[in-house]
Amino acid sequence: MKTDSTMESKTDALDTSIGKPLVAADQNGQNAVEDFVDPWNVHTSSMKGVDYDKLINKFGCSAIDDSLIERFKRVAKVEEVHPLLRRGVFFSHRDLHVILDCVEKGQKFYLYTGRGPSSDAMHLGHLIPFLFTKWLQEVFDVPLIIQITDDEKYYWKSLSLEKVKEMAVENIKDIIAMDFHPDKTFIFRNLEYMGQSVGFQETLARIQKLVTVSKIRGQFGFSDSDCMGKYSFPFNQAVPSFSSAFPQIFKGKTNVPCLIPCGIDQDPYFRMTRDVAPRLKFLKPALVHSKFFPALQGANSKMSASDPNSAIFLTDTHEEIKEKINKYAYSGDRDTVKEHQEKGGDCSVDIAFQYLTYFEENDEELEKIRQNYSSGEMFSGQIKEILIKKLTRVVLDHQTKKKSITEDIVRGFMTPRQLVFDF
Ligand code: TYM
Repeated sequence: MKTDSTMESKTDALDTSIGKPLVAADQNGQNAVEDFVDPWNVHTSSMKGVDYDKLINKFGCSAIDDSLIERFKRVAKVEEVHPLLRRGVFFSHRDLHVILDCVEKGQKFYLYTGRGPSSDAMHLGHLIPFLFTKWLQEVFDVPLIIQITDDEKYYWKSLSLEKVKEMAVENIKDIIAMDFHPDKTFIFRNLEYMGQSVGFQETLARIQKLVTVSKIRGQFGFSDSDCMGKYSFPFNQAVPSFSSAFPQIFKGKTNVPCLIPCGIDQDPYFRMTRDVAPRLKFLKPALVHSKFFPALQGANSKMSASDPNSAIFLTDTHEEIKEKINKYAYSGDRDTVKEHQEKGGDCSVDIAFQYLTYFEENDEELEKIRQNYSSGEMFSGQIKEILIKKLTRVVLDHQTKKKSITEDIVRGFMTPRQLVFDF
């Protein structure tokens, strides 16, 4: 695996496996289904979750190693990086060093991320890229573009246009409630904004002219029976990676570097984007990828908006959080108390512990819990108690903030305008 943080931009590997889970021989020579990740599916049979080292190799991205984190600290002039970065949740990247080079030269870049509104309520997994993006916006003082892909969810789910719009509005309020900078953040909904913006349409046309149907079919696994909306959608997600799409923000500059924080499942869209960029004489967008926040039932099952017990949602009450964690969070305890005390709990599968690695900001506190649990002194039930308190605070604070987000505030974020941004 390539971990050199200073290497030149490399050619992105083309993962042709999208749409078809891979079957490979396991240690016993038997067929076993390999981990599988694309924008629509995440499968792993391991309670420890996806094998991210293998995924890095398969996708052709690069691991975020200690030397890159040290460089990040020097360039960003921060004593410590965000917990999600230092704990390896953001574990992989494409061309992050190019963004750091820009910052070193005093050049600005912009951030781009997004959400596809498939439920009224976002779950904690959806928050992860936004939490990190907010920190990046503060550290680098840069503009942020947030795309809401209501079109994507319309094409993929059996939802009416009215329903996806309703969900988009709720999700946008959730995102604003995370305290993004109002003068430096532009949020748009594809079905509302794309047709109004010449910059967006022209960038879209340039990209679409370069990519054939057979390429899209191969890259995304679409078939003859998929609707045209699906074939055209990857371009809509590609466009905001280029500053030419937002003349009102970037004053017509077409080569402002872009950094995209996202879950690793979104990478296929941006491989296609990075592939076309040089042919348009545009810069390839850089990416930082996060691992998946696991479902309550364990890292081998999926969080789903249609199964309220699979995840903690931002709309949950204290009682719901308590009940879900106590009842469903997979435990790394051993079978008997005696065995647990002898062997210790398994932090790598215990969901309450795993969730704390995302939401307990204090490293010493987390380490204490890790030691006590893996030495067998502590049981999963005790970690669950800590987690319930922590998540109740996170979720209820969020709900309070969301209540203060008025229609005017939403409109403010969604108005196409010049952002406060010093080139
Ligand atoms: P969506 O709405 O599925 O997810 C929003 C963001 O959350 C990430 N994510 C997760 N991260 C960690 N753990 C999880 N369990 C988890 N579930 C989802 C996703 O990777 C994503 O970053 N097509 C996109 C919307 C989009 C977008 C973008 C995302 C448009 N432009 C640019 C990232 C960057 C989507 O449907 O995301």
